[in-house]
Amino acid sequence: MVQSGPSAPGPSVDGPAVALSSGSGTLSAMTSAGNEIRLFSTKAYDRAAFEQANLAHGHELTYLEPRLDVTTVGLAAGARVVCVFVNDVVSAPVLEALHAGGTRAVALRCAGFNNVDLEAAARLGITVVRVPAYSPNAVAEHTLALILGLNRHIHRAYNRVRDGNFSLDGLVGFDLAGKTAAVVGTGRIGTIVARLLWHLRCEVLAVDQYPDDHLVELGVEYTSLEDALGRADVITLNCPLTEETHHLVDAAAIESMKQGVMLVNTGRGPLIDTEAVVDGLKTGRIGSLALDVYEEEARLFFEDRSAEVIEDDVFARLLTFPNVLITAHQAFLTKEALSAIANTTLANVGDLFDGRACANEVVAGD
Ligand code: NAI
Repeated sequence: MVQSGPSAPGPSVDGPAVALSSGSGTLSAMTSAGNEIRLFSTKAYDRAAFEQANLAHGHELTYLEPRLDVTTVGLAAGARVVCVFVNDVVSAPVLEALHAGGTRAVALRCAGFNNVDLEAAARLGITVVRVPAYSPNAVAEHTLALILGLNRHIHRAYNRVRDGNFSLDGLVGFDLAGKTAAVVGTGRIGTIVARLLWHLRCEVLAVDQYPDDHLVELGVEYTSLEDALGRADVITLNCPLTEETHHLVDAAAIESMKQGVMLVNTGRGPLIDTEAVVDGLKTGRIGSLALDVYEEEARLFFEDRSAEVIEDDVFARLLTFPNVLITAHQAFLTKEALSAIANTTLANVGDLFDGRACANEVVAGD
């Protein structure tokens, strides 16, 4: 545990010192236990960004390396606010344990909130805040990097050249210009992805119940998911994970795609049924696949597992395909995004500490 901030006292396990109003979105009564934020799943780059941002906030920050789940939730005891990332488990049992330990707010330092049981949080009076947008450019640019890198086999070419193999066999790509690209979800990130693809002179299809006027003006065609999947040469998933979007790409969806389609997922792992995608790669229906997220990534990503045996057979199978490019949930990882994440998170918590309503509160039904 690494602590910083004005006094950095050890955690108390006495539970809440003050009863807090539930559902108000503020922690106005949260004064006597100090302004500590306990951050789970932190890496050196998180700590650097938070230390820099905290110069303007002066909160008391305690950095923890473990991921939050039912086995580690005891580490939060005594902290009024815990700060978590994408693979921390904020389920009902975890929230109940957090509540028993005195936690009254969960600050997500990410946009997605699919890992939080919002109904349980509301029932317990635990406020949940997030960082709705930190750098949509970071994720959109990484999406484009995956599309370009995968298409032109940069991952394979890099290794070949370093190994003194200058053969071009197997490295044939295609011109993106003139191809049809489908962007599923045109929110903050997807609109930028769509614009980047449009600038590459793709015909861009979009799937979203809320069309973006600027994209429509550019000539982007909004259409149904079925139509987009059937027409696209490149499909990129940029929508959130919800009950509706879980396994949005399943065996039937893959069957409806063009032969040799490129599929890219920088949204959330469960947007695709990975086993169905492995089958699609085997038949050639999916011509290439780029992932920044994976259904079972919580057991793999963000750690050095190079000396371990990978027990996940589906993931191990994915790694065997030459036409699969995987990054380990790094689309967000730019200096600008890390700084924005830290600043917004600390401002969110500052609102709660000061009794102000936080504009970035997430409530059940969002
Ligand atoms: P956003 O909320 O601005 O946009 C999401 C869009 O998806 C909205 O326009 C919404 O109407 C649309 N949508 C919802 N359900 C849909 C469906 N069934 N079909 C098509 N569109 C649908 O969110 P933003 O900021 O663009 O982020 C999108 C997702 O990207 C996040 O939810 C998160 O899961 C993921 N993400 C991944 C990161 C990474 O590092 N790989 C970093 C940040 C976000």
